[in-house]
Amino acid sequence: MKKLAIKSEADYQKAYKKSEKDLEKFWSDIASEFHWKKPWKKVVESNFKQAKTTWFKGAKLNITENILEANLEKRADQTAIIWEPNDPTEKPKHISYKKLYSKVCKMANVLKELGVEKGDRVCLYMPMIPELTYAVLACARIGAVHSVVFAGFSAQALADRINDAECKVVITSDGLRRGAKEVALKEIVDQALEDCPSVQSVLIAKATNKNIVLIEDRDYWLAPLMKEADKHCPAETMDAEDLLFILYTSGSTGKPKGVVHTCAGYMVYTAYSFLNVFQYEPGDIYWCTADIGWITGHSYIIYGPLLCGATSIMFEGVPTWPDAGRFWEICEKHKVNQFYTAPTAIRALMACGNEWPKKYKLKKLKVIGTVGEPINEEAWDWYHKYIGNGKCPIVDTWWQTETGGIMLSSLGKIGPQKPSFAGRPLPGIFPQLLDKNGKVIKENNQEGLLVISKPWPSMIRTTYGNHKRCKETYFSTFVGHYFTGDGAKRDHDGHYRVIGRVDDVINVSGHRFGTAEIEDAIDQHQQVIEAAVVGYPHDIKGQGIYAYVILNATPEDEQTVKQQIVEQVVAGIGPIAKPDKIQFVRGLPKTRSGKIMRRILRKIAEGKGNELGDTSTLLDPSVVESIKQGAL
Ligand code: WT7
Repeated sequence: MKKLAIKSEADYQKAYKKSEKDLEKFWSDIASEFHWKKPWKKVVESNFKQAKTTWFKGAKLNITENILEANLEKRADQTAIIWEPNDPTEKPKHISYKKLYSKVCKMANVLKELGVEKGDRVCLYMPMIPELTYAVLACARIGAVHSVVFAGFSAQALADRINDAECKVVITSDGLRRGAKEVALKEIVDQALEDCPSVQSVLIAKATNKNIVLIEDRDYWLAPLMKEADKHCPAETMDAEDLLFILYTSGSTGKPKGVVHTCAGYMVYTAYSFLNVFQYEPGDIYWCTADIGWITGHSYIIYGPLLCGATSIMFEGVPTWPDAGRFWEICEKHKVNQFYTAPTAIRALMACGNEWPKKYKLKKLKVIGTVGEPINEEAWDWYHKYIGNGKCPIVDTWWQTETGGIMLSSLGKIGPQKPSFAGRPLPGIFPQLLDKNGKVIKENNQEGLLVISKPWPSMIRTTYGNHKRCKETYFSTFVGHYFTGDGAKRDHDGHYRVIGRVDDVINVSGHRFGTAEIEDAIDQHQQVIEAAVVGYPHDIKGQGIYAYVILNATPEDEQTVKQQIVEQVVAGIGPIAKPDKIQFVRGLPKTRSGKIMRRILRKIAEGKGNELGDTSTLLDPSVVESIKQGAL
């Protein structure tokens, strides 16, 4: 993939200028590096007002031919995936490109046997086991749309996502291992499916020794079916803009929405960004610690690396089990060259002490990366010193589920390096800062609202089943721009630092939640009249969840009710959305039109209750005093 590679600052400058001058030529040159069944007629057509963009119109392809067949020609015996199990005493698995080909084809044939056809949706609710990667690629092979749901979500959250996409098949496992814990995954699926009429069959991979009950004519063990299946499966011919996958993410309002990505643009951009951000070279061992249930895992464990013929590590476990040296032990064992994780993991491991990384040889690392939330300078410095040996460049990659791939980042050793700054846009990406009236801020050294002003190949195409929602959420705040929901700062050199969300989205340990979604879960408790949720700064998680709750009567035992509220959130969303603090209040600060003034609640949660500014427009200013007095 020669044309894809940026090897120096001069290459970056040249590429960026080329993309400015002729965006279509820039992307068509890059796209010509891939295997197409039929070429495109038009590189890009875009209308941000209607939230309509098409890339590589008229082209036909199958993304898995670019991962499987393409790499079989060049590196059939090279390891595609190193699977590192949860338990460090078990042996890792090395899966070659050849083996990956046959596993994916077999699984694709199993899906076909179950009646899955092009365009059908398949839900994947699985641990980080190789079968998850096979399942993702098997769907892509036959043109089915995968919807991976992170296996930490509750039965309710799973059911909501299955129903929204009307999935025909669910692929899961008997259980899930995460550190010392085991989760009965299949039982959660059973519970979810009580309420999911579209699901016809369930495939179950074996990941634990859990005993499970199979429901006749619905549930099937995967392994025996794979064994019987043919190891070849023709790749379905896909249109450039056919759906590749749906991935649910939270916004400021309503239920999580299904972000839709399509085949061609997503392929081109994930490969291009992977190669250049990580400065990946043939033979390198690359490890992204994310879960495939999130976009990071989709784009930078599976698609980007495998499109580039990389060796990508997939880790089943957690950073702190059996001890806080686990990540570094894996880096040493597999001689990892590029390592990509989240600030929350860095902060958690930093808190465990410097002795852990010191025990292991991390000399092979060339580039280390972070993603998911702003990284504070202290964590950046620790990462650089103790993991990067004071030498490795850090790539602080800013992007979103909706952007499909990394948008702002330094490029490995090319840089630039500036602690807690993501850096510059990748070639072909055109960010701008706007003031709140939508005026473009031209000068540097300013803060503003981050938008992207031209289309890019892996951008969100729609929100599944509701295009209006896509248009309203991303393309209506500032007409003619894609609005990210983030605030950012640009320094005097034009480097960006993303500060965080400016909407009602909170980022807890790199996981995204809408405050409304957590409030809805809390409201399910029968004693709750109303709840308001805000984020507040948290040392490890980045943001913690603070819930203000009005009850219908004074509780006899506050702790019990708080515990029940936490359980309500665990049932509605999952353990990852547990409120950190719950405060019972008699009222919420509302404007005369009934809108909750979250600004005030955020300040109180931050411990800045005496910096509230003007509260005179409130319906009942006295509630603020009472909340402040009871603040946690
Ligand atoms: C939000 C997107 C895409 C990867 C995982 C998260 C925040 C992401 C950074 C960064 C500062 C960041 C933003 C963004 N974010 N990366 N490097 N610096 N903030 O994906 O769940 O779609 O969340 O994560 O606020 O909008 P996501």
